[in-house]
Amino acid sequence: MKSGGRAGFEEWAEHFAEIAPALNVKFWDDVSPDEVDFAVVWDPEPGRLAAMPRLRCIFGAGAGVDLIVRDPDFPAHIPLIRMTPPGAAQRMGDYVCWAALHLLRAGRRMALSQSRAAWEEFSCASAPDISVGIMGLGVMGARTAAMLQGLGFPVHGWSRGAKQLPGVTDYVGDAALDDFLAATQLLVCLLPDTPATRGIIATPLLDKLPRGAMLINAGRGAQQNLPDVLAALDSGQLAGAVLDVFDPEPLAAANPAWGHEKLTITPHVASLPPRRERAAWVAQCIAGIEAGRWPEKIFNPELGY
Ligand code: GLV
Repeated sequence: MKSGGRAGFEEWAEHFAEIAPALNVKFWDDVSPDEVDFAVVWDPEPGRLAAMPRLRCIFGAGAGVDLIVRDPDFPAHIPLIRMTPPGAAQRMGDYVCWAALHLLRAGRRMALSQSRAAWEEFSCASAPDISVGIMGLGVMGARTAAMLQGLGFPVHGWSRGAKQLPGVTDYVGDAALDDFLAATQLLVCLLPDTPATRGIIATPLLDKLPRGAMLINAGRGAQQNLPDVLAALDSGQLAGAVLDVFDPEPLAAANPAWGHEKLTITPHVASLPPRRERAAWVAQCIAGIEAGRWPEKIFNPELGY
């Protein structure tokens, strides 16, 4: 296991000991490469996975596996399973709904007023007035779309391949991106990190949104050009943003983004299932694999996610 350092490992190990006592779970640095059948990793050092001769399967400790597949020696012939326990999509939906309402109701502005003990009234738009565009309609995007619709937001999406989600107009592929952006007042990024999505949230894209649009990024930090986002907030092209992801992480304490009055920052927590939930899911997948049943969320090197 390599996720959360040694302290994190102790917690993982306690959960595994209760949930699946037959599994022999060891910390990454305490294991000999030739004794590993299954690895659970978030950011393994390059070359370490390739040096494990009997490795049968790799589990990402998160849904995104970018820090694993960036290894030039990543053993692409071994199945890599993305961490998708049942509650992960709901948690992402919880986060995006919170962030959407936070932007809609000017939560950052109210927090700043409160910090000055200032009673400043203002009225806001209502959810049905704001069209939400979700980039990435995988399991997390689909659940998030349904939850946002439940709050009254009109929702549409942009995806690589066509998706059929109830009440969600889908804009498919690069050719549809400009139309998708023109129709989007609140842009939600839930894309995986791939060469095609890296750097996508930058001035050329932001300028295609209607003036005064809002942004939520809970995808990956490498997808956004942070100075461009700050410039769009300054110019009024963006009215507000909630960012959960940065590149690199953690965001440096000296970064001016922290103090921006139209920006809310969260520390990559949008969908962070508790370790117990993730350990239970890994144990369940291993039991399935031993019985010849492979889980669905296997990384596809051609798609990049
Ligand atoms: C978190 O970002 C994850 O990939 O699960």
